[in-house]
Amino acid sequence: MMLPADWLSRVRIRLMQRTDLPALEWEGEFTHFRRLFADTYARYEDGGAVLWVAEFPNELLIGQLFVQLNSERPELADGATRAYVHGFRIRPAYRRGGLGTLMMAIVEDDLFRRGFRMVSLNVARVNYKAQRLYDRLGYRVVAAEPGEWSYIDQNDMLRYVSEPAWRMQKTLRGLNRPGW
Ligand SMILES: CC(C)(COP(=O)(O)OP(=O)(O)OC[C@H]1O[C@@H](n2cnc3c(N)ncnc32)[C@H](O)[C@@H]1OP(=O)(O)O)[C@@H](O)C(=O)NCCC(=O)NCCS
Repeated sequence: MMLPADWLSRVRIRLMQRTDLPALEWEGEFTHFRRLFADTYARYEDGGAVLWVAEFPNELLIGQLFVQLNSERPELADGATRAYVHGFRIRPAYRRGGLGTLMMAIVEDDLFRRGFRMVSLNVARVNYKAQRLYDRLGYRVVAAEPGEWSYIDQNDMLRYVSEPAWRMQKTLRGLNRPGW
């Protein structure tokens, strides 16, 4: 798909709404995460998360990024100064055009304004492309994560995930986009 030259300026990055939930399933590719998405949205409604989406005019959602503000693991998110980024993905046709970088900048600025000064995330050890992006944005590896977790899919089946990861983090020192 050829994108118009000015496509990025036409993308709207906004907070998620409940009506966006079906679009997160990407025509079936992520249907197994239906309950996970609903639980994440419930956390957002309770004030424990901030959920972002990227929308292109007349298209489905083209990107998403979730932020957890608190966690049972304070090294990931502590509800005050440290937040945890997860669920970050851009539709393949819109990758490598700067959208991911823009979303991260907007999310970091929002967190800075909320008083957060540290952002953490886990990136799969095999995901070199994402590691390079985070490295360029100033994130550094601070720990190895076993990446063992489970979730209940849309058919009530318990599914196990094993995805060894690196935990990366970045200290926020100011706004990326003053005046944004
Ligand atoms: C990781 C991900 C969200 C990044 O989104 P993205 O929109 O491609 O990010 P960007 O375009 O800002 O940056 C990607 C690369 O494209 C480059 N790029 C940006 N604009 C470009 C342009 N106009 N032309 C060519 N390359 C460009 C960037 O320099 C960057 O390179 P680098 O990271 O090697 O330095 C996306 O690749 C994705 O959804 N991947 C699958 C899911 C995933 O891995 N998520 C992360 C889980 S931790």
